[in-house]
Amino acid sequence: MKIFSGCSNKPLAEKVAKQLGREVSPLDIHIFPDGERRVRVLDSVVDEDTVVVQSCVPPVDTNYMELFFIVDALKRSGAKSVTAVIPYLGYQRQDHVFRSGEAVSLEVIVRTLESIGVGKIIVFDLHSIKTPELFRIPVSHLSALPLFAGKIREIGYIGEAVLVSPDMGGVRRVKLISEMLDNMPQAAIVKNRNLQTGEVTAEQVQGVLTRRAIIVDDMISSGATIFTAAALLKEKGVEEVVVFATHPVFSENAPTVLQDCLAEKVFVSDTIDVPEKKRFAKLEVLSVAKIIAEEIRKQ
Ligand code: R5P
Repeated sequence: MKIFSGCSNKPLAEKVAKQLGREVSPLDIHIFPDGERRVRVLDSVVDEDTVVVQSCVPPVDTNYMELFFIVDALKRSGAKSVTAVIPYLGYQRQDHVFRSGEAVSLEVIVRTLESIGVGKIIVFDLHSIKTPELFRIPVSHLSALPLFAGKIREIGYIGEAVLVSPDMGGVRRVKLISEMLDNMPQAAIVKNRNLQTGEVTAEQVQGVLTRRAIIVDDMISSGATIFTAAALLKEKGVEEVVVFATHPVFSENAPTVLQDCLAEKVFVSDTIDVPEKKRFAKLEVLSVAKIIAEEIRKQ
């Protein structure tokens, strides 16, 4: 088996390869002055099972195109199979027609991955549990929640904290991690987002709060959800707020928003690479490499 990486999350690809006792195989990815990419496989992959790691984060279209070209290059070079590890599946929120006349962008991505010869997909904490149904090829929908549950145990929060969903859409996620933590108590915030301005507001919490709250979410983009949730929890008397979110999308000035928010600590996973310039003091990144390696070993 050979492991390849696109440009978006090489540190994760290297960690996965290390877990599997291998190195990331080289690719020649040349960027022309006009922005076009040319991908070339350097090692022989004839009759090999291959794995490509690529997080489809901003610049999302560029990262997808690069992934498509790597898969095509592997197939043309004789690879027996190609598994695409897409820890963050860009366009996942555009999974149906919200207003008439819209494209279903996720479906276009899914059909493209299938048609270029991807045999299997490995993804993490999808926004909708229905997304795997769109694929006609096998999908391993993995989660960072077991990793987060382990960290919560390690910190020693069991018995002292309440797990909180920052919005009603995340209640299922919080229920799942609660089950991993001996049914730790749960609560949920009633969040509103103004669809025109993007402004996030929250005034109400469903459930009983204690001294500590652990917010669990699938992703942090602008940071507005976490900022609002942490402020509300503190206002309701919580003394310590800790955040766990799988995907550090960190758009706009999210690092500043998160550093300034009232949460004491923010844990994310490395499904998306967080470059040095986006790191902040209260951030800790936990790696999903072992979980991916275990899944690949099953093949
Ligand atoms: C919302 O449904 C998601 O679970 C996240 O809470 C949301 O996407 C986070 O976005 P932001 O950081 O921009 O508030």
